[in-house]
Amino acid sequence: MHDDTEERAALRRKLDDVLLQQRELIERLQKGQDYFQHLARSVWRVQEDERRRLAHELHDGIGHSLTALIHLVAQATDALGERPDEARDRLARARDVAQSTLKDTRDLSRLLRPQILDDLGLEPALRWLARTYQDDHRLAVSLEFDQPFPEVDGDLSTLIFRVTQESLSNIAKHAAATHVNVSLRRRSIYLTLAIRDDGAGCDPEAAFAASSQGRSSGLGGMRDRVRLFGGMLRLDSKPGEGSTVSAQFPLPSTAGAAP
Ligand SMILES: Nc1ncnc2c1ncn2[C@@H]1O[C@H](COP(=O)(O)OP(=O)(O)OP(=O)(O)O)[C@@H](O)[C@H]1O
Ligand SMILES: [Mg+2]
Repeated sequence: MHDDTEERAALRRKLDDVLLQQRELIERLQKGQDYFQHLARSVWRVQEDERRRLAHELHDGIGHSLTALIHLVAQATDALGERPDEARDRLARARDVAQSTLKDTRDLSRLLRPQILDDLGLEPALRWLARTYQDDHRLAVSLEFDQPFPEVDGDLSTLIFRVTQESLSNIAKHAAATHVNVSLRRRSIYLTLAIRDDGAGCDPEAAFAASSQGRSSGLGGMRDRVRLFGGMLRLDSKPGEGSTVSAQFPLPSTAGAAP
């Protein structure tokens, strides 16, 4: 009789334990689901911001240039018979506007999706990106890639390209740097991308806070996209001491990985 009561009490304790574990598991699942919903929403918001920026660029940049072009051609047509010098001048200006619009369109198209990434792959695309920033922003960009260049699938290639692009854009906008180093290394089952600059630096917490308060989408957007791939992104920086953005991505297979 005594044994029976003890056995029942033990069974009840076990049952309570199992119920508690089940409750904790459900809570964790719920938290995980909330977290992924939050990530998905945040990535969606960043994409909408990008579209808004693009719409603005198309309307205010290329749209206005084409309107100016139409006016210049109309003025040239009016002046053609009696004022040939004026017509020539208007046409010369129209040609300049067309040339710069063509450049803007090409830049925008590359920004949207660089053809080189699809045609030649990640390594040439990163080299092209580095050259572009070197030429346009007078930055010395050095590259350090593991050789042979790590094998990366299409989606991860795009993500690595975007993180590098946003980091270089931040350096050009905020850092006043002279040197940048971009490295991509494979370590065991991880791929590590790092973009280091010798510029003004910043307070990382404040930088991420700007993102989470919706004032910017760059750093926070990158961090969320990297998280969606199971990786993590960090910014190490101090005012006056340059900045390093590093992102670690888990590789799907460890086959052939370096020790
Ligand atoms: N390499 C850097 N050097 C110095 N400051 C930086 C650097 N990268 C980011 N920052 C700081 O972090 C802030 C947040 O960067 P983030 O990319 O999120 O926004 P943003 O570049 O200002 O705007 P957006 O990317 O949305 O156009 C920047 O405003 C800047 O103050
Ligand atoms: Mg930015």
